[in-house]
Amino acid sequence: MTNEQMTSSETEPTDDQLAPTPGTDGLTDTADSGADTTTDRTLLEARNLDVYYGEEQALSDVDIEIPEKQVTAVIGPSGCGKSTFLRCINRMNDLVDSARVEGELRFDGKNVYDDDVDPVALRRKIGMVFQSPNPFPKSIRDNVAYGLKVQGKDDDVDTKVRTALERAALLEEVEDQLDSSGLDLSGGQQQRLCIARAIAPDPDVILMDEPASALDPVATSKIEDLIEDLAEEYTVIIVTHNMQQAARISDKTAVFLTGGELVEFDDTNKIFENPEHERVEDYITGKFG
Ligand SMILES: Nc1ncnc2c1ncn2[C@@H]1O[C@H](COP(=O)(O)OP(=O)(O)O)[C@@H](O)[C@H]1O
Ligand SMILES: [Mg+2]
Repeated sequence: MTNEQMTSSETEPTDDQLAPTPGTDGLTDTADSGADTTTDRTLLEARNLDVYYGEEQALSDVDIEIPEKQVTAVIGPSGCGKSTFLRCINRMNDLVDSARVEGELRFDGKNVYDDDVDPVALRRKIGMVFQSPNPFPKSIRDNVAYGLKVQGKDDDVDTKVRTALERAALLEEVEDQLDSSGLDLSGGQQQRLCIARAIAPDPDVILMDEPASALDPVATSKIEDLIEDLAEEYTVIIVTHNMQQAARISDKTAVFLTGGELVEFDDTNKIFENPEHERVEDYITGKFG
């Protein structure tokens, strides 16, 4: 256990936080101080989290506490369960028939696997961006407005669309073409469009599964800059197979190794400069993976 994890018992959820809210989705609104300062408040917490696909175990007894408004990188060799872990957080694994989740995954103190949690509402608070940019075959405006319309938040859509595009560092490039197709953009722009689409409904968390691995170096560096900016307002969890990228942009790094085991989780500097586990050091230095 890291010092971080030991001291964070102060952030254990209170009974208040655990009690279901009167709302219909079973989720509390996360407290927002209004300030964009980095805190070490735990927003997401896994306890004894196991995931199976049929008989095969993909995650094994994962314990982790992910801080709010920081960038957490998830690294590890192919097949070690990185995507599975990400998909647990907003219950995307529900969509996989063979997937079975055991243990707890707490979002602001509330287990997202409780019966009263609505996974659709959860996914609005915990948005996701995938490896290949996947804009809808719609205008740029309609792509970004999509989540707002689904939620019935359709007052002042134009302002919200522009704000999301601006936060996604895309507005300047597309300002004059909001009605042209999202599919006409370059790959890097499409990925920023998908990020704008994910942030338009104002989520708390953005999950990104190798969001730059299909992009060229210039587009990748724009996404990396953007991710660091997003952490001023959102909690960002990014899966990457690019260790330099993890080292550059993240505050915390979680290292999963074969068998779906979370071997080490700590400040990114510590992981890359002086990891506790030899297996982590071997992985970081490229001895395997
Ligand atoms: N939909 C699925 N059905 C069955 N097995 C899966 C499915 N998705 C992933 N797996 C298995 O779970 C393990 C972890 O996969 P994944 O989370 O995709 O790893 P990573 O993202 O680290 O490459 C792998 O052994 C993979 O084959
Ligand atoms: Mg993956």
